[in-house]
Amino acid sequence: MGTLDGKVAIVSGSGRGIGREIALKLASEGARVVVNDLDAEPAGETVAAVEAAGGQAVSCVGSVTEEGFAERFVQTAVDEFGGLDIIINNAGYTWDSVIQKMTDEQWDAILDVHLKAPFRILRAAQPVIAAAVKQTKAAGEPVPCRKVVNISSLAGTGGNAGQANYSSGKAGILGLTKALAKEWGRYNVTVNAVAFGLIKTRLTETPAGTGGTIDVQGKEIKVGVNPNLLAAMEQMVPLGRGGTPAEAAGAVYLLCIPESDYVSAQTLVCGGGFNI
Ligand SMILES: NC(=O)c1ccc[n+]([C@@H]2O[C@H](COP(=O)([O-])OP(=O)(O)OC[C@H]3O[C@@H](n4cnc5c(N)ncnc54)[C@H](O)[C@@H]3O)[C@@H](O)[C@H]2O)c1
Repeated sequence: MGTLDGKVAIVSGSGRGIGREIALKLASEGARVVVNDLDAEPAGETVAAVEAAGGQAVSCVGSVTEEGFAERFVQTAVDEFGGLDIIINNAGYTWDSVIQKMTDEQWDAILDVHLKAPFRILRAAQPVIAAAVKQTKAAGEPVPCRKVVNISSLAGTGGNAGQANYSSGKAGILGLTKALAKEWGRYNVTVNAVAFGLIKTRLTETPAGTGGTIDVQGKEIKVGVNPNLLAAMEQMVPLGRGGTPAEAAGAVYLLCIPESDYVSAQTLVCGGGFNI
């Protein structure tokens, strides 16, 4: 028996890093998971890992920023698994510059992936959730608690130099989280955010300036953190280290379990004790 038996979850950006661990954790607790990523290969790899561990998952490949993606993502959950109980808005990347060098393209791309895409996914989920709640009530059954967890960052809670676009997107999603917690309380949906500190994934592990790039729909985007800065950051963390993707997924999981059914509109900081 898993804590999430019978639940259906969608997890954006779950082909790698934290999202992958979230998909694996939710599936290991019995949820059936729709895995998403930009490319088929990492998404398929996560689906295979879930299945190898005895869970159920399907993939829904594509960019969360594409027109029509949100509806397709939600519909995949309905068509493949018959409902939608847990929504994790995790997909994203960084594209850093100081403000005087930041282009409109950089600004728009990061706001699109971290704020507009979650908004669209949640908007697409509303009719599905409202209809399910109506049906449950008509049958005289108790409405189950559904969960939304939006992924933010300490850059969103405290701001980060060189990340005006990312900090704005990650702060914006906290506003979306709070507004939707108020709108969706009537559907018995809790809406929370997890703000990560330093988590060891390709976004942070790649040494800056070593040519480390990620491919976002054919565009090469520099990622990585200066190793000296990374070491300094780790020293500032009370636990003395960056977190693992599995530890990051653990924080998200806490907001998906029945024990957190009366926790909503909150931001859980997952930063090893470091906060700004
Ligand atoms: N790693 C950290 O220290 C850290 C800290 C704070 C917040 N975060 C946030 O956590 C989330 C996950 O980041 P991560 O560190 O696991 O990065 P990651 O690069 O390891 O994984 C992110 C995944 O999202 C996918 N993705 C990116 N853009 C997408 C799009 N448009 N459509 C679909 N998929 C897309 C990528 O292909 C990748 O597989 C992001 O929202 C990130 O901003 C990370």
